[in-house]
Amino acid sequence: VRSFSEAASIPVATVLRAMMGMGIMANINAELAFETAELIATELDLQLMLKETETLEDELISDIEEQEDDPDSLVTRPPIVTFLGHVDHGKTSLLDYLIGINVVSGEAGGITQHIRAYEIDKDGRSVTFVDTPGHEAFTEMRARGANVTDIAVLVIAADDGIMPQTEEAISHAKAAGVPIVVALNKIDLEGVDANRVLSQLTEHQLTPSEWGGEVEVVRTSAISGEGMDELLETLLTIAELNEYKANPDRKALGVCLEAEQQGDRGVLAKLVVQNGTLSVGDVVVCGPTYGRVRAMTNTLTGKPVEHAGPSTPINLMGLESPPGAGDRFHVLSDITQAREIAANRADAESRSSLSGVTTKVSFENFQEM
Ligand code: GTP
Ligand code: MG
Repeated sequence: VRSFSEAASIPVATVLRAMMGMGIMANINAELAFETAELIATELDLQLMLKETETLEDELISDIEEQEDDPDSLVTRPPIVTFLGHVDHGKTSLLDYLIGINVVSGEAGGITQHIRAYEIDKDGRSVTFVDTPGHEAFTEMRARGANVTDIAVLVIAADDGIMPQTEEAISHAKAAGVPIVVALNKIDLEGVDANRVLSQLTEHQLTPSEWGGEVEVVRTSAISGEGMDELLETLLTIAELNEYKANPDRKALGVCLEAEQQGDRGVLAKLVVQNGTLSVGDVVVCGPTYGRVRAMTNTLTGKPVEHAGPSTPINLMGLESPPGAGDRFHVLSDITQAREIAANRADAESRSSLSGVTTKVSFENFQEM
């Protein structure tokens, strides 16, 4: 009981009262079964405390999020386009073709395990592409990809048709409320039946435009290059219709796609700037961590970058520890404030894991706390 109350910063008396309410008579030295601790934490105190912590720091952040941009300050930004679909249907190959590199052949087992984001330039018009893994283990990464995206490209191999992770990708894209373009890929293969896939799409309420619906279906081959120009044109047309805008003159905000500790070199975080401009030297708070931007590099060329504007994917060095994938980031003017916000969040995270909200917590690490 004592260590529980310390770890959770709740008075012992409150813990004992809660236990009494549950019909358990105990004293400060009593042993608490993990399940009991979980019950006390979730039913009462911890939830209240978590709420309090949130209101303290989130006010500042929500002010930043809600800060309206003067219409005069808005400029067109590149669309963020995410490739989603079943494993091996050709997402990485299509992106490789578009950017003229070859990532597929360097991947372990040909399976994408990372989320990648690149900005490419086509006749002076930019597009940011996000590649996600199709393997069933990576639901979370597909959801993350769908969340930063403006347009989803649903990649479906013509010989395979709609598969479980295609269906999951469709629901992520629908949940994100973004336009869906279908790349009917591997169209170069002998004997593929495009109509079969079109009717599967119709069954999923994605009626192809050639059948009178709303969804553009582009037949592509990442091998022959067929349909690649058409795909890019389709995406740029949707982007023009939707007029994606942002204000490059405000402090940056966006999302972390992925991050890792790179030995002594520090933390490398892949971020996408959604609004504003991120610059070397900026103070960033991202999920439960913070830092000053030490360096940024272009995700494609690896070249150093001083400033990253709206829709730019960037590799960033300078955070204290790796943020969680999907964590939002914000630029603040004051590093002390950033440190406090990060510390508060880290605190709240460890308390919510103590309360059994996450499944990772075990009795062992509960005792360590
Ligand atoms: P995950 O990242 O693991 O989900 O797979 P992916 O969707 O990125 O597929 P990837 O690009 O790795 O391609 C899988 C296999 O299909 C590779 O062997 C590619 O060479 C092949 N492939 C991709 N596109 C085409 C295509 O248009 N035609 C043919 N014939 N093969 C293709
Ligand atoms: Mg891939």
